[in-house]
Amino acid sequence: MTSPQERIRPFEARDLDALLALRDRCFDGLDLDRERVRREWAFDRNPARVDGVPSAWIAELDGEIVGTYGMLPALVAIDGRPTPAICGVDFCVDERMRGRGLGRRLTGAMVETAGSNFRFITSPTAATTALMQERGAGVVDAAAEGALFARPGSPPTESNPPGITTRELSAFGSECDAFADRLAQHHRFVTVRHADYLQWRYREDPYIAHVTFGAFTTAGNLRGLGVLTLSPTEPQAYLGELTTEPGDTDAARALLVALTTAAHERGLEAIFALERRPTIQPQLVECGFQPVPTGAPEPVLLLRDGEAAPSDWFFTPGDGDFLFRIGSAG
Ligand SMILES: CC(C)(COP(=O)(O)OP(=O)(O)OC[C@H]1O[C@@H](n2cnc3c(N)ncnc32)[C@H](O)[C@@H]1OP(=O)(O)O)[C@@H](O)C(=O)NCCC(=O)NCCS
Repeated sequence: MTSPQERIRPFEARDLDALLALRDRCFDGLDLDRERVRREWAFDRNPARVDGVPSAWIAELDGEIVGTYGMLPALVAIDGRPTPAICGVDFCVDERMRGRGLGRRLTGAMVETAGSNFRFITSPTAATTALMQERGAGVVDAAAEGALFARPGSPPTESNPPGITTRELSAFGSECDAFADRLAQHHRFVTVRHADYLQWRYREDPYIAHVTFGAFTTAGNLRGLGVLTLSPTEPQAYLGELTTEPGDTDAARALLVALTTAAHERGLEAIFALERRPTIQPQLVECGFQPVPTGAPEPVLLLRDGEAAPSDWFFTPGDGDFLFRIGSAG
C-alpha cells in the first residue's frame, strides 16, 4: 500500500524541472531541451486546452516528485458533439516507489479529472492498460483487426479515381471544419479535425515534419485529409491521417496515391499505416501495403459514466503518439 504522506496534486509551473528529471530517470533517450519545447507546444499551445484543467497530476513525497500522469488536451466529438477529452501521456513512477499502488492512484486522478469524460491512450504499456481496464477502459486489439500495414517506398502503380484531385495543403480553412462536422456523424468518438487543430498538429509541431494533402471533388469540396508523418531518424514515414468518410473509397485511394508519391519523392524506404476501417483496408492492399501480423499498438479508451466500445472509435496515428512514439515518451 502507498503510505499516506504521498500526495497527489495538480502540476504547477514550478514543478517543471523536477518533473523532467523524473521522466529522464524513467524513460530512455529523453532530450530535456527538446522536451521543454515539445511540452510548450503540446500543452500550452494546444487549441483544445481548457483553462483550469492541469496538464498533469503529480505524486509528491517529502517535497520530491515521485510520479506523474500527463494529460494532453484533446477535443473529441462524442455522439456528434465536440467535447473536451484527455489523452493520457508521460505516465511514470520513480523506480524506488513502484509496486505500491502509486500508479493506480495517479490513474484514478487522471480518470476522475473534472471537466471531461473521455480518456484515451494511444501507445500504452501492459501495466498502463491493466490499470485503465480496472477503471472500465476498452482496448483496441489492432493486431486481431489486422490494422497494421507496411509498404516499401516504391512509386505508386495506381492512379487517381476519376472526379477526385489531391493537392498539398499548407494551411487549413473552414472547409476542414465542415469536413470534421461530417465525419462526426459517422463515428461515436472521433477527434475533431477543425482547422485550428490541424494547424497546430501538423504545421506547428516543433520536431516532426508532416506532409499534408486534401482530396477534393471537381467542384472543390474537401472529401478527405491525408498526412505523411516523417520519421526524424529513419528514411521512413507513417500515415498520420487517411481520413475520409467511411464509404469514400475513391477519396482514400486518391490520398494513398498522393501519400505514396510523396514518400517516393523523398526517397523513403518504408511507410507504415494503422487502418481499422474494413471498407478502407482493401484500398491499402491495392496500393501496395501488406498487413503486418504483429507489433500493432493497443490503444485504450474510456468513457466515464458510460460504455465505450473500441469499434465506436475512429482514430488515426496522428491522434496520439503511435509507431514512432512521437510526441511523448509514454
Ligand atoms: C507503469 C508504472 C507507472 C506503474 O506504476 P506503479 O506505481 O508501479 O503501479 P502500481 O503499483 O499502482 O500498480 C501496478 C499494477 O500494474 C500491474 N502490472 C505491472 N506490470 C504489468 C503487466 N506487464 N501486465 C499487467 N499488469 C501489470 C501490477 O501487477 C500492479 O497491479 P497489482 O497491484 O494488482 O499487482 C511504473 O511501472 C513505471 O513508471 N514504469 C516505467 C514507465 C512506463 O512504462 N510508463 C508507462 C508508459 S505508457
